[in-house]
Amino acid sequence: MSHFRPVALEHASRLLNHGPTVLVTSAHGGRRNVMAAAWSMPVEFTPPRVAVVIDKRTFTRELVMAAGAFGLCVPGAVLADATYGVGSVSGRDVPDKFARHGLEPHPGPVLGLPVLEDGCCAWLECRLIAERHTEDAYDTCFGEVVAAAADPRVFDAGRWRLDAGPAALHTLHHLGGGAFAVAGRLVQAGACPSQPR
Ligand SMILES: Cc1cc2nc3c(=O)[nH]c(=O)nc-3n(C[C@H](O)[C@H](O)[C@H](O)COP(=O)(O)O)c2cc1C
Repeated sequence: MSHFRPVALEHASRLLNHGPTVLVTSAHGGRRNVMAAAWSMPVEFTPPRVAVVIDKRTFTRELVMAAGAFGLCVPGAVLADATYGVGSVSGRDVPDKFARHGLEPHPGPVLGLPVLEDGCCAWLECRLIAERHTEDAYDTCFGEVVAAAADPRVFDAGRWRLDAGPAALHTLHHLGGGAFAVAGRLVQAGACPSQPR
């Protein structure tokens, strides 16, 4: 039984808004795969759309283009080693990166993509938006979010609650070379001073 709760699609952009490193998941033709991506972001409100950079040379890119879909899972700090690991080896060179790193994906509810919950804060299922430039030249892939869910201990009522949730689920932000900053401390801005006339 999943401990995740559905996230309204109008709030899905908030799952990526603060720039967490994500795990891009994919599956096609009996193969499944997972890689790390530091570069992802929301790009449209309605319908919710996201962009993620998936190098054309990766196995993930091959599966995403073939399936027309990708998953984005937001790992917590407890998955730092696994995140770095799946981003350092290609699925072309090992039989199954999920199994290699002890990751147990579940089928997503709309597209059946492998999505991760244990050790993760949230996931999004995305339908690839066919773009000529994605096929030809660029590494950036766009997707429409069709389902999203999160662990309510860290994301509830459309808001991150990282200061209150377990430290193991604080999000990872890649600094390079396998070093990550971990998000957890909140600073609440005060009310805006009135503008001078
Ligand atoms: C922390 C981290 C972040 C990364 N971010 C990206 C990224 O944003 N885009 C990308 O194309 N590759 C990124 N990579 C590299 C891929 O994860 C890497 O090429 C991976 O081995 C591809 O796996 P695959 O061939 O199984 O798809 C990152 C690697 C790490 C460790």
